[in-house]
Amino acid sequence: MATVTVTHDRPAAADVDALALATLPAPATPTGARLAPGHGLPDDSQAHLRAAMDTLQLKGSAEEVVRLPGVPGVAASLVVLTGLGRVSDAAYPSAVTPEQLRRAAGAAARNLAGTDSVAFAVGGLDPARVSAVAEGALLGAYTFTRHRSTPPDKATPQRVVLCVDKAQAKALRPPLRRAEALVAAQLLARDLVNTAPNQLYPESFAQAVQDHAGGDAVKVDVMDEQALSRARCAGTLCVGQGSARPPRIVTMRYTPRRAQRHLALVGKGITFDSGGLWIKPGASMVTMKSDMAGAAAVAASVFAIAEMELPVRVTGYLCLAENMLGGGAMRPGDVITSRGGRTVEIINPDAEGRLVLLDGLELAGEEQPDAIVDIATLTGMAVVALGFRVAGLMGNDEALEQRLSDAAASVDEAHLRVPMLEEARSLLDSAVADLKHHGEREGGMQIAARFLQEFVPDRDGARGQIPWAHLDIAGPAFNTKAPYGFTPKGGTGYGVRTLVALAESFR
Ligand code: BES
Ligand code: MN
Ligand code: ZN
Repeated sequence: MATVTVTHDRPAAADVDALALATLPAPATPTGARLAPGHGLPDDSQAHLRAAMDTLQLKGSAEEVVRLPGVPGVAASLVVLTGLGRVSDAAYPSAVTPEQLRRAAGAAARNLAGTDSVAFAVGGLDPARVSAVAEGALLGAYTFTRHRSTPPDKATPQRVVLCVDKAQAKALRPPLRRAEALVAAQLLARDLVNTAPNQLYPESFAQAVQDHAGGDAVKVDVMDEQALSRARCAGTLCVGQGSARPPRIVTMRYTPRRAQRHLALVGKGITFDSGGLWIKPGASMVTMKSDMAGAAAVAASVFAIAEMELPVRVTGYLCLAENMLGGGAMRPGDVITSRGGRTVEIINPDAEGRLVLLDGLELAGEEQPDAIVDIATLTGMAVVALGFRVAGLMGNDEALEQRLSDAAASVDEAHLRVPMLEEARSLLDSAVADLKHHGEREGGMQIAARFLQEFVPDRDGARGQIPWAHLDIAGPAFNTKAPYGFTPKGGTGYGVRTLVALAESFR
C-alpha cells in the first residue's frame, strides 16, 4: 500500500512529482470547469490552468482526469486535474460528498502510473472529507502484481501527500489512521480475490489467513476435512467433495477484554465455482475465482477490527470449498444432514454457496452472538436485479438490517434493502427431506436468503432467532468493466468498509 503523509506546505510548493487538484462544473452556465477552492495557488498558476481548462473544454465532471506538465508557479512537474462532478449547490466544500472526493482522488491516482508521489490540495476540507481523499488515493493507487514475472514499468504512486491547514493536523490523525486501516484491509481482500484459483484454494487460503494473523490479536483455527467430518459440517464437505482440493472452515477470533457485544461474520469462500455437475457455460465461469469475495471481506475485516482495537468481540467464519465436478461431486437428488440435524435435498449443484454458508451459520449460532452477518457472492439474480455496483441486504431483524444499512451508508458502499419473500419457504419444500436447497429463478436472491435463514439458530432462553443479516455481493465484489473512481478491474474489496463500520457501531 502507498504511504500517506501530511504537509503544511502550500500545494504549489509541495515536493512531489504530481499535484492533484479537484475541478467542479461551473455553477451557472452549463459549460466549463473551475478549480475547487482551497488550492491556494498563486495567480499566474491559476491563470495558466484556467486557460488550459478552457482550451481542453473541461467540464469538471466525475471521471474527467487530465494531466498537465509544466504549470508555472507549481513545484511539481505534473498537475493532474480530477473532476468532482455536480455539487448540489454552490456551497463548497460542505456540498461535496466524501464519495465524490474518494472517487475523484481515486481516478487521479489511477491515472498517475509512472509517477512516484502525488500531493492533494485539501485546504478547507473537514477531517472526514480529507480522509475520504486519502482513502480514494490509496485505493486508486492499487495494482495487483502478484502474478507478473516482471514489475510493470509504470507503477502507480507509492507516496500520497496531503496539503492540509496547520490547524487541522491534530484532528486529522485519528481519521487518517482509520482510513489507512480500512484501505489496507480492502486491499488485502482485493489481493485474495485477484489471486489465481490454482494458487488460492481452501488450504492455501486458510494458510494465508494464518500467515497474516502473525501475532495473537486474532486467533485462527482451521478445520481440515477430517475435522469438518468430525464436526458434521455436511454442507461444506458436500460442496468440496467434487474437488481434488479439500475444503476448510477457518474461524478467526478477536476477543478484546472490554467487549460487551459479540458479532459473528460468515463469509462464502468458494475459491472457484465451476457450477459442479450443473456446469456453468464457459463465459460465466471465467470470473468465478471471485466467488470467495465474501470470505475475503470477512477475513480482512476481522484483521482491521483487531488492528483498530475496536471494543467488540468478533468471530469470523470462512467457509472455504472449491465447487468442481470430480467423481465425488454432489449430485442432484443427494440428501445431506446438517450439523444442526436438518436434512437438505440437493437440487442444483451450482447453488453451492448456501450449502457452505449453512455450516457457518450453525457454527456461529452455537456461540449465541448478538448478531450474525453473512456476506456472499450468492446469486446471479442479485446481479440481474441490482446491477454490478449495488449489494442486496436482507435479514430476519429490522433493527440489525437498519444498523447494517446505516453502516454501509456511512462508508458509501451502495446497497439496497430487499424484502424477504413471504412465499419463499414453501418454494423450498422438498418431497423427501426437511427442505430442498433451490426454489425457482424468479426472486432467486431472496429465496437463497430464505434458505440461509432456516439455519440461523434460535436465541437461548428467548423467543425467536438470533438477529441475522445477509449481504449478497455478487454484483459489486468483482469489476469486469472499465475501472472507475477508486475501483480497479477485478476484485474490489467491497464489503470490508461496511463490516468494519458495523463493528464500530457496536462500541
Ligand atoms: N457464484 C454464483 C453466483 C454469482 C453469479 C456470483 C455471477 C457472481 C456473479 C452462485 O454460486 C451461483 O451459481 N448461483 C446460481 C444460483 C442458482 C443455481 C439458484 C445462479 O446465480 O445462477
Ligand atoms: Mn454456483
Ligand atoms: Zn457460487
